[in-house]
Amino acid sequence: MEKALVLIVGAGPSGLATAACLSKLSVPYIIIEREDCTASLWRQHTYDRLKLHLAKEFCEMPHMPYTYSTPTYIPKIQFLRYVDDYVEHFNICPKFNSSVESCLYDEVQKHWVVTTRDQVNGIVTKYAARFLVVATGENSAGNIPKIAGLDGFSGHVIHSSSFRSANSYARKRVLVVGCGNSGMEIAYDLSSHGANTSIVIRSPLHVMTKELIHLGMKLASWRIPVKFVDFILVVLAYVWFGNLSKYGIVRPNMGPLFLKAKTGRSAVIDVGTINLIRKGDIKVFGPISCIKGNVFEFDDGKESYFDAIVFATGYKSTANNWLKNGEDMMNKEGMPKKDFPDHWKGSNGLYCVGFARRGLSGIAQDAKTVANDIKAFLDSSVPF
Ligand SMILES: Cc1cc2nc3c(=O)[nH]c(=O)nc-3n(C[C@H](O)[C@H](O)[C@H](O)COP(=O)(O)OP(=O)(O)OC[C@H]3O[C@@H](n4cnc5c(N)ncnc54)[C@H](O)[C@@H]3O)c2cc1C
Ligand SMILES: *[C@@H]1O[C@H](CO)[C@@H](O)[C@H](O)[C@H]1NC(C)=O
Ligand SMILES: *[C@@H]1O[C@H](CO)[C@@H](O)[C@H](O)[C@H]1NC(C)=O
Ligand SMILES: *[C@@H]1O[C@H](CO)[C@@H](O)[C@H](O)[C@H]1NC(C)=O
Repeated sequence: MEKALVLIVGAGPSGLATAACLSKLSVPYIIIEREDCTASLWRQHTYDRLKLHLAKEFCEMPHMPYTYSTPTYIPKIQFLRYVDDYVEHFNICPKFNSSVESCLYDEVQKHWVVTTRDQVNGIVTKYAARFLVVATGENSAGNIPKIAGLDGFSGHVIHSSSFRSANSYARKRVLVVGCGNSGMEIAYDLSSHGANTSIVIRSPLHVMTKELIHLGMKLASWRIPVKFVDFILVVLAYVWFGNLSKYGIVRPNMGPLFLKAKTGRSAVIDVGTINLIRKGDIKVFGPISCIKGNVFEFDDGKESYFDAIVFATGYKSTANNWLKNGEDMMNKEGMPKKDFPDHWKGSNGLYCVGFARRGLSGIAQDAKTVANDIKAFLDSSVPF
């Protein structure tokens, strides 16, 4: 068995941020990644036209600010260059192609037994780790809802995490299911590449511009009460977009920032989709009741034929597939049991980073907190 003081599972922004913070405190660690690269979510599972939705000052990793010349809304390629610089600067060397298959706490030896499998040659390695940091993300696997008749649909079905660009969809009739940021942006991409695009909108949502969200986050960071900031945002959004209820878009009762903090659901930051919906280029449907062959039936009785579906129905954590003995930190969905800001620690040296539904700024905060906690523990106890 290989020994590790701290073992970090996952080399996305959360794992890398934790590694950097530990390095700064001279705490040694091992970082394990199942894919062949860092930040695989961004590199391999996002669409080409993606830019960070939030302004750069809210998307920094710890100990490495963006430069003055970095654009406010960073394109995916540039964010990945920043990640590469980060990895180089902190000399982070993940063990790639190595998937964590189980983590068990050994009560007798007082360490975590971590079993990994090499994705290429199948070789199994075991580690004994004093501290275990779960950094596998809230977006570890695509979520596809159960819909009656989906199995019999003969068209093309993908999850948004496999969608790169709309090039191959021209002239096809495509249904995007889900109206979060990914769904709305993919619908825009499809429609502007000549696909006959429709979108399913099932529940209330806030539509904002990126400038409005930027303003809101700035005001909130100056400690202006969230209720008041939300009120301003909702009024300004109404002035900007008008009443969208005839397009099936209604606002939730909670304001956008409060809703995000409470439930993790983000406001949609419009990239031009609303205008296409208004022009009728993108059609809006309500909930799907079932699929018969290639014909979709909707709850309101409408029927329509489609060639392809893109599920932009979100992601789920998969930490519970391999984390055993983590019940005091993680619930059945593989998400923290405790609410922010108490979500990051379990017992027996177990931690999680990047599960506060607060994007990159939440990740930075978690990574610093966890690294400091480990350091404080080491300083106050006998050596490992
Ligand atoms: C389309 C999209 C746009 C987004 N835009 C923004 C934005 O603008 N601003 C913002 O702040 N946030 C944004 N986010 C949120 C996003 O979740 C974070 O930015 C960030 O990528 C999360 O980092 P993470 O390290 O927690 O998880 P991930 O990036 O998912 O990294 C987790 C890593 O763990 C690895 N892993 C998983 N399971 C195992 C295992 N069993 N063994 C070994 N390794 C494993 C994965 O391969 C992956 O590399 C966006 C998310 C998506 C999906
Ligand atoms: C990971 O696996 C891929 C093939 O799946 C291989 O090309 C790559 O060299 C491997 N990387 C490491 C570091 O082993
Ligand atoms: C928007 O319009 C709908 C009906 O067209 C109406 O019921 C609703 O009150 C309006 N919302 C606002 C905020 O004006
Ligand atoms: C586009 O798709 C919608 C919904 O499926 C359909 O009603 C409409 O007739 C289609 N338009 C064209 C030009 O095919």
